[in-house]
Amino acid sequence: MHHDLVGAKRPSAFGQEGVCHRLPWFRGPRTPPIVEPMFAAYAARIDRDQPLSGLELGERPAPEARAGWSVVNVRAASLNHHDLWSLRGVGLSDDLLPMILGCDAAGVDEDGNEVVLHSVIGQSGYGVGPKEPRSILTERYQGTFAEQVAVPTWNVLPKPKELSFEEAACLPTAWLTAYRMLFTNAGVRPGDSVLVQGAGGGVATAAIALGKAAGLRMFATSRDEAKRKRAVELGAVEAVEPGARLPQRVDAVIETVGAATWSHSVKSLRPGGTLVISGATSGDRPSHAELTRIFFLELKVVGSTMGTKDELEDLLSFCAATGVRPVIDEVLPLDRAREGFERMESGEQFGKIVLTNG
Ligand SMILES: NC(=O)c1ccc[n+]([C@@H]2O[C@H](COP(=O)([O-])OP(=O)(O)OC[C@H]3O[C@@H](n4cnc5c(N)ncnc54)[C@H](OP(=O)(O)O)[C@@H]3O)[C@@H](O)[C@H]2O)c1
Repeated sequence: MHHDLVGAKRPSAFGQEGVCHRLPWFRGPRTPPIVEPMFAAYAARIDRDQPLSGLELGERPAPEARAGWSVVNVRAASLNHHDLWSLRGVGLSDDLLPMILGCDAAGVDEDGNEVVLHSVIGQSGYGVGPKEPRSILTERYQGTFAEQVAVPTWNVLPKPKELSFEEAACLPTAWLTAYRMLFTNAGVRPGDSVLVQGAGGGVATAAIALGKAAGLRMFATSRDEAKRKRAVELGAVEAVEPGARLPQRVDAVIETVGAATWSHSVKSLRPGGTLVISGATSGDRPSHAELTRIFFLELKVVGSTMGTKDELEDLLSFCAATGVRPVIDEVLPLDRAREGFERMESGEQFGKIVLTNG
């Protein structure tokens, strides 16, 4: 049930759960609007081919208090490739528009606590059961590229004081995904070797930095020479062009590029090695699936998506304890979000693009 600030019930403006209904509305001719709308970056239309044509910046209704949920004042939020997929209509349908984009945020809750959001939301909104359908912010609930966002209070975690708002805002999606891929699904231990495809990406830079800090021998590929150099500075033993032979076969591969690198990922594994995949930026239909190699060498292919709240807590603790910090490509004020989207679409970034409020 939704409540406005004076406790009177009013009809939902959008009919979506978790969305605030603070559109300027009037009780009588002389009554001012109860709440101002807030500034946000949102998907207004779906366009598969030109995703940025559906991106709009402007006023949206702010979230309102709701039992079991918290409203967080967003200080920083970070872009993920997921936001581009949303604008292309992947995981987001027309009937849910307009949808505020942004899966990640760090900010301040109603009690003044500095917090980070876990953006995986269960069906009930109170935790995520093991067999429960999950949704990521922006798929069903309004996202974080706004002045405020509402999430179930269960999804609000304390921000470690060692991390800035900008750094903490990079962790809940790309970094959590990399953490789970490496430490839960890859089956590696310190001393093992790991290849990360597409070094410049948010998940990829996270995997390189986390793996290095955990004592893994990290290798990387990137299409860009400058990015290969930066991958080595970040902790990779060596960074090569996509498809190039590595000096050794690796124990695991962190794959998010998909079709363009799949064959190389399979061929780079030692017998019995593990390919962990969480994304397919270049498409999900590789020309060579390498099926024979997969069964003959008894390779494991493991799918991975986001991570649990426990894993996010461990990731926050890992960063605080080790000094590892998210690689930030660029910090922009929210009203320049379009520039961030353009940079991500062009694939020029190295690390995370962060949007800030205030
Ligand atoms: N399943 C999950 O829970 C989950 C979570 C996070 C992300 N993902 C998925 O993982 C993928 C990466 O996400 P991200 O946020 O890290 O994206 P990103 O920051 O935009 O990174 C994408 C990277 O892919 C690399 N790439 C290599 N070949 C490419 C090609 N042919 N076309 C486009 N890019 C190419 C690029 O690295 P170089 O320029 O260095 O080659 C680029 O930096 C996305 O598809 C995303 O949807 C899934």
